[in-house]
Amino acid sequence: MELYVATHNEHKLREIGEMLPGFTILSEDPDVEETAPDFAGNALIKARAIAAAHKGCWVMADDSGLEVAALGGEPGVRSARYAGEPSNTPANNALLLKNLEGVADRRANFTCCVALVDPDGVEHVLAGRCYGTIAQAPSGAGGFGYDPLFIPDGHTKSFAELSADEKNAISHRGRALAEVQNCIQGFTAR
Ligand code: IMP
Repeated sequence: MELYVATHNEHKLREIGEMLPGFTILSEDPDVEETAPDFAGNALIKARAIAAAHKGCWVMADDSGLEVAALGGEPGVRSARYAGEPSNTPANNALLLKNLEGVADRRANFTCCVALVDPDGVEHVLAGRCYGTIAQAPSGAGGFGYDPLFIPDGHTKSFAELSADEKNAISHRGRALAEVQNCIQGFTAR
């Protein structure tokens, strides 16, 4: 089965391929602006653009980001460009640490919303969350984005110090993709 995925992000494509082994993953650039105020809206904008060009196929788009309680949910939908354009991971992480200087409340969560369009053209929105805290300093070399700063609840290591399998098992994207698996199984079992 083929699944069109609206991203060129290699890390995401690998995570999606690992979670959905029965699919041939085809990467496609939706070439749209992510103008929605929330993750679900942006995921739908991207999925609809790809689905319009590939009717009768499975299509998915995800939108995700980091929400920090003490920052009122920031960086949220601006996670990729928190420190400005173009997207710069070291600058984003440095700004996050600066904005949390002296802040005791380090609670945060990653959220992932997936918009899935089935071969009948029906849209499904699925979500996953992972709660944790923001560390005082980065650690680990794996993963991407804010991974070196995010300590998932119940762990002492950052996302960047966990193996891909360990991260997939608890991550926002892993949880959203588990919902995607359920949705696809329900569709194919009809
Ligand atoms: P996107 O819109 O889903 O591509 O995600 C936006 C941004 O959120 C990324 O560029 C990262 O900065 C951050 N992000 C999303 N998921 C993760 C993750 O699993 N680890 C670290 N950062 C992430």
